[in-house]
Amino acid sequence: MQDVTDLPFMTLIGRYGPPDLFFTEYFRVHSQSRLEKHILRSITENPTNVPVFAQMNGESIPDIIRTARELKKHPIAGIDLNMGCPAPKVFKKNCGGGLLREPAKVDQVLGALREEIEGLFTVKMRIGFDSSEHFSTLLELVAKHRVDLLSLHGRTVRGAYHAPVQYPLIAEASRSLPCPVFANGNLTSPGKAFRIQRETGCRGAMIGRHAIRNPWIFRQIREKLKGEPLFQPTLHDVRAYIDDLYAMSGKQGIPDKPRISKLKKYLNFIGESIDPKGQFLYRMRRAHEPEKMFAVCDEFLKDCSDPFPLEPYPGIHARPNTEKPKVSELISPEP
Ligand SMILES: Cc1cc2nc3c(=O)[nH]c(=O)nc-3n(C[C@H](O)[C@H](O)[C@H](O)COP(=O)(O)O)c2cc1C
Repeated sequence: MQDVTDLPFMTLIGRYGPPDLFFTEYFRVHSQSRLEKHILRSITENPTNVPVFAQMNGESIPDIIRTARELKKHPIAGIDLNMGCPAPKVFKKNCGGGLLREPAKVDQVLGALREEIEGLFTVKMRIGFDSSEHFSTLLELVAKHRVDLLSLHGRTVRGAYHAPVQYPLIAEASRSLPCPVFANGNLTSPGKAFRIQRETGCRGAMIGRHAIRNPWIFRQIREKLKGEPLFQPTLHDVRAYIDDLYAMSGKQGIPDKPRISKLKKYLNFIGESIDPKGQFLYRMRRAHEPEKMFAVCDEFLKDCSDPFPLEPYPGIHARPNTEKPKVSELISPEP
């Protein structure tokens, strides 16, 4: 996930209990693009031993092929194409989810990439742009070009991050495709991941925001697979996780202000499970200095042996990354 699942975060998740596979933030692909160094580091310096797929986001076939060739020089598990990003500045250029509007173009891009990539070629996509009208055609194209794995986010591009997830369409993909399908979208907990696996017949789960909220989620899924009791973190453990997140941003040598902004990107998700009224989110969004931020964290979490809920509290939402921050959250409070 852009600006979130970078090398320090992958390293941290590796310590809390890694997933089977990682997918990088997307490499932007256009006529002037070069592999972004900070994303490349999540492949070349990754200490976790987890296979890493490099994700690309673009629409120009010559540039996509050039980028795939550059990526192949690095220790990647495979190459993933992003056909899901809902950010308007991305889809307006027909990149990310914008590609889904034109199945003929998808046909060309997948065909060119399949020819270029002798190793694993995977796709991350949504069920359509405005609607699922092209969904069956898109699945036929995934099959035609022998894509090795499809991660399917069960929303349209217009559905962004909060529309209901259409799990029956994930079931349709799992039934009809020769390749494995990973279900994606609101797999909030190990219990939900297992229920969706049963309902859709998917081969695996791709988990995004809820791995930021609950970094133990992959460990808990593994425990559930083995029939073992699930690790139950306390709010105090969550406080320690926040220290780890802050420490990792310190290693990058950035000053307080951007460091706090970066921490807030993670707290935005963690806060969904801290208190049922969303007071933590409200207060932390208004804290601008490290001391104030950590005082809020201590008040809600320090030395608290209450269990950290596996599910988010109903109605408490992280701010979608497409939504503008409120000005009141950016400026210092009135004296
Ligand atoms: C901050 C943020 C950044 C994201 N960046 C990417 C990305 O670079 N590539 C991608 O395929 N999906 C990206 N996504 C989408 C997620 O991978 C995932 O499809 C979506 O959040 C739904 O799954 P979830 O409910 O498990 O989070 C991003 C999502 C968020 C919230």
